[in-house]
Amino acid sequence: MRDLIAALNETSWSIALRESLYVWPILEATHVLTIMLFAGTIMMVDLRLLSIGFRDIPVSEMTRRILPWTVAGFIVLAATGLLLLYAKPLHYYHNVFFRLKLLLLCAALANIIYFHRKAEADMAAWASGKAPFAARASAVISLCAWVSVIIAGRMIAYDWYDCSKLNPDGALSAFADCPRSSEAVAEAAARE
Ligand code: HEM
Repeated sequence: MRDLIAALNETSWSIALRESLYVWPILEATHVLTIMLFAGTIMMVDLRLLSIGFRDIPVSEMTRRILPWTVAGFIVLAATGLLLLYAKPLHYYHNVFFRLKLLLLCAALANIIYFHRKAEADMAAWASGKAPFAARASAVISLCAWVSVIIAGRMIAYDWYDCSKLNPDGALSAFADCPRSSEAVAEAAARE
């Protein structure tokens, strides 16, 4: 896997993107600004599910009106995010916070699938009133997961856990798939 990422890192488009004067910052700014649309609309629906706001609006009406904006926001986030990733694939491949963000992103998306499959099934029965426990639990998980994705995303820029600063045989180094030190590699080879 690392070899594939290393090869991607040397492609001309990847080099051009990360050395660009304007394209990379525009991608990064678009990525950050789109969080307002994506996470903001998700938060509105979650607050309704928790009966914290918009109690006079049926949940079905809110999701019908807001969901298209949420989907549009995610498409822009994924597109700009994948281009940012392509610009420095090897850097992000070993980035502890980027890996954590992807795990949290999967958890947040799994929660959305659960909500739409399970909690939404009988929405007609409770759309105008208080949401059932499953829907409220899904809303709490959603709020926690997306806030965690945003925090992990912001931490990507910090090099505290770069491979060069980690114990090559430590758990974090394994999590980031850091290249093992030659001694560690020789040691591992001797153990095999
Ligand atoms: C497929 C989906 C996504 C990919 C591939 C992706 C990729 C990235 C990458 C590579 C960066 C690092 C930019 C840097 O070096 O600072 C980044 C930053 C960030 N991402 Fe994403 N992202 C995705 C979705 C999201 C989502 C859904 C959110 C929030 C809900 C998010 C929030 C952030 C934040 C807050 C930053 C930090 C921006 C900064 O510090 O300037 N990303 N993302």
